[in-house]
Amino acid sequence: MGLRSEQWYAGDDRNSYIHRAWMRRGGPDDAFRRPQIAIANSASDLTPCNAHLNEVAASVANGIREAGGIPLNLPVVSLGETNVRPTAMLWRNMAAMATEEMLRANPVDGVVLLGGCDKTIPALLMAAASVDVPAVVVPGGPMLTGTFRGVPLGCGTDVWRLSEEVRAGTLSREQFLRSESAMIRSRGHCNTMGTASTMALVAEALGTVVPGVAGTPAPDTRLLEASHGTGRLVVELVEKDRRPSTFLTKANFHNAIVALAAIGGSTNAVVHLLAIAGRLGVDLSLDDFDRIGSGVPLLVDLQPAGRFLMEDFHRAGGLLAVLREVRDLLDPSALTVTGTPLVDHLGDAPIWDPEVIRDRRQPIIAEGGIAVLRGNLAPSGALVKPAAASPHLLRHRGKAVVFDSIEDFHARVDDPDLDVDADSVLVLRGCGPRGYPGMPEVSNMPLPRKLLEQGVRDMVRICDGRMSGTAYGTVVLHVAPEAAAGGPLGLVRTGDVIVLDVANRRIDVEDPDFLTRTPSEAMAAAFAAPRRGWERLYIDHVLGADTGADLDFLVGSSGSEVTRESH
Ligand code: FES
Repeated sequence: MGLRSEQWYAGDDRNSYIHRAWMRRGGPDDAFRRPQIAIANSASDLTPCNAHLNEVAASVANGIREAGGIPLNLPVVSLGETNVRPTAMLWRNMAAMATEEMLRANPVDGVVLLGGCDKTIPALLMAAASVDVPAVVVPGGPMLTGTFRGVPLGCGTDVWRLSEEVRAGTLSREQFLRSESAMIRSRGHCNTMGTASTMALVAEALGTVVPGVAGTPAPDTRLLEASHGTGRLVVELVEKDRRPSTFLTKANFHNAIVALAAIGGSTNAVVHLLAIAGRLGVDLSLDDFDRIGSGVPLLVDLQPAGRFLMEDFHRAGGLLAVLREVRDLLDPSALTVTGTPLVDHLGDAPIWDPEVIRDRRQPIIAEGGIAVLRGNLAPSGALVKPAAASPHLLRHRGKAVVFDSIEDFHARVDDPDLDVDADSVLVLRGCGPRGYPGMPEVSNMPLPRKLLEQGVRDMVRICDGRMSGTAYGTVVLHVAPEAAAGGPLGLVRTGDVIVLDVANRRIDVEDPDFLTRTPSEAMAAAFAAPRRGWERLYIDHVLGADTGADLDFLVGSSGSEVTRESH
């Protein structure tokens, strides 16, 4: 089979002349007969977690050239989690759509996907799945561990912890601010088992990263070595026509879910994996996460739920060491980009530090994973991560304290007169994909100051938004349908008794008559639909969290067919 790029470069007519002339750039004639490999590069100064990816891209390019391909830098929409407002998730689908369209529109035969910060790898994988050209991910890697006053700082997680200490009066604001410059020690993404680390590791378990690469710290020269090797590999993928649709099946997602549970990964992976599966036409459902993941032991002791950080994880053996412990739970039929099954890469993957990565016989939690709840409050599902929750709250009954928006929450949560106690259930709505819009990471609401001062450190919280992968607590999130889409969450009132029963996978309002109410005016007022632009397009077409929060018209694939020429 000929190269896709030949449809631009082959021939002796005017159009092929134009394509070659502008791309010649001093190269030899035969450059146009070689695989043209895009490097989808999310490097950006405004995405600090990905700012080093130009150096990674240079190593990828060297590998591509060595293997006989032509590397082509393709800057893509980049999403910096800490900067982008209102929330980076609003733009994930836009980044995916723009990347997909640029790969299809250009003379590209294969692509290396460079991501790091939370949404970047999911967006790039969604794009590659929909354009279906050979693709390999190089995860940008986590940052090194920063320390403050002799104590390691977990990027993200410790921000939450320290800011709660300030609110509780146990840490001065001056000390808090002094920790700021110690938090980000090096290039790279967050170093906890947050969403970025999770998605890098899950992408490897899915088979889209060269096995053993994900989790390599960003400043580690082994990342450049791996990038070089990936550049060589992608040329081989083009020659063998190993496109995502040829090897990514339900078996791959099965392995990704096993990995997600064993590493104690972020709940955000659920919405991203559902979206990627939707692009591939793989029949993956919310319930698969519970069915496949709930019996998997949690083996990794990383923040936010545990003690260590990604640098420790890599030193301890990384993902392959974890997967070797749960090898019997993996689907042996799932292939990787290398053309060989994932399980074939687990032969030589010892655990070097059993404090960080546990032996299967001594798990942190015998059955980890993410629980999928249903009930009259979440007919289409909601998530809770038992490993990040307080065990005594996994079965709980309490009165709701309802907030109609995050602004409403901030305005009232610290009011000394707020009728709330440790048994209350904090309910925040209007934070789903459509309602916010963009499904922000606000579900782990800070606790009321007066309860913090009493020593309360966790409460049941319920929300239709997401939670940062670096956060922790007994948080029921991704409630679907969301309030702004007419979900029952919009009908709850302060004082309603809510019953959480994780063992039986239930989340209910005790009196089901609440379903006969009409939504509160305050809630309707909090949802002001934008008139134009991406936000308008987004709220008109975004699907629920239970199916991946993709846009309805982006689900599926258009393939790599070359479209018509305009000149
Ligand atoms: Fe980029 Fe955390 S802010 S990964």
